[in-house]
Amino acid sequence: MAPATVDDDEILKDEQNPPPLDEDDIALLKTYACIKESDTGLAAPSQWDLVARCTKIISPNTEDAKYVINVKQIAKFVVGLGDKVSPTDIEEGMRVGVDRNKYQIQIPLPPKIDPSVTMMTVEEKPDVTYNDVGGCKEQIEKMREVVELPMLHPEKFVKLGIDPPKGVLCYGPPGTGKTLLARAVANRTDACFIRVIGSELVQKYVGEGARMVRELFQMARSKKACIVFFDEVDAIGGARFDDGVGGDNEVQRTMLEIVNQLDGFDARGNIKVLMATNRPDTLDPALLRPGRLDRKVEFGLPDLESRTQIFKIHTRTMNCERDIRFELLARLCPNSTGADIRSVCTEAGMYAIRARRKTVTEKDFLDAVNKVIKGYQKFSATPKYMVYN
Ligand SMILES: Nc1ncnc2c1ncn2[C@@H]1O[C@H](COP(=O)(O)OP(=O)(O)OP(=O)(O)O)[C@@H](O)[C@H]1O
Ligand SMILES: [Mg+2]
Repeated sequence: MAPATVDDDEILKDEQNPPPLDEDDIALLKTYACIKESDTGLAAPSQWDLVARCTKIISPNTEDAKYVINVKQIAKFVVGLGDKVSPTDIEEGMRVGVDRNKYQIQIPLPPKIDPSVTMMTVEEKPDVTYNDVGGCKEQIEKMREVVELPMLHPEKFVKLGIDPPKGVLCYGPPGTGKTLLARAVANRTDACFIRVIGSELVQKYVGEGARMVRELFQMARSKKACIVFFDEVDAIGGARFDDGVGGDNEVQRTMLEIVNQLDGFDARGNIKVLMATNRPDTLDPALLRPGRLDRKVEFGLPDLESRTQIFKIHTRTMNCERDIRFELLARLCPNSTGADIRSVCTEAGMYAIRARRKTVTEKDFLDAVNKVIKGYQKFSATPKYMVYN
């Protein structure tokens, strides 16, 4: 701090020498010296406002209301309000910003939530729409019923006196469009969308995962409408069991907190929970029982019509020869998932590139089917799924 002030004085002296400054200029320079920015571009720490917690309001709703604030690691103070805050803005237990001179409350602050939880909100809507999902008619219908209907027409449920389903579990083989459909839902709704990947909740320290789940739902509740999407939930939703050593307890505790939170919020409230997994058999039955995740939507392998449609979706942006018989191609890929078909399209493009052509021909597609569907059979996701389902 000390050398910096010396520097400032020198600047002042230099500039004062030839033409004398008038009072306005000196005042300006003084304010500059006062809010001098440090190397980081921030004001000097002594200028920063403090964050405190308003623990109690003494004689609220009167002229001379006073506020007890607790500044961490400094002390507790009884203070008044700054000019810019109205008494109605401040509640007990709120985080507030105070200035350094009189410790007056200057600004109400939102509740503190772990930044890594805040990061999970999807702000930019994904560009996937329902039109980009081939087949899956039934699944889209079911999903929309649970997600959109209670949000748009809650009165229907109130009239009938039933609670709308709280959430949906999507399950099915890898690559059948579970994550894809969730993205389409996110794109479609105006609700806040929070995406959590199961493994993100697996934390090193005891209780951390559960705390994150709690903060996640706390954040969700603070929104007008919110959809929480747990992807790959088998990372945390495994069945409760006793392994004798208690090694996986932490993971279970996280799962129990989810169960608890699912029970906690009002079903008519605007939080919907979506979960996706491809190991439904490993999930804890408690998570799946009616009243928690009521709906279970299976994503099966696409049928012929859906496969044709998926081919068309993925070739929409490709530069293809006209009159490609997509139905024939679809027939050639029995038991394939949407991901397989996408891979076929990419391979077909690769063949065209190798032959230095600008358009993709039907022959390229046939070669690609041979390579991807027949050649990569041992990597196929489907037979394994068939075994444990
Ligand atoms: N029904 C479909 N329509 C169009 N494209 C699809 C469809 N299903 C899958 N795909 C393609 O496959 C890709 C992978 O699908 P997605 O990520 O949804 O799989 P998933 O079901 O979430 O699999 P996992 O269980 O492994 O997470 C998608 O990005 C999409 O391009
Ligand atoms: Mg997925």
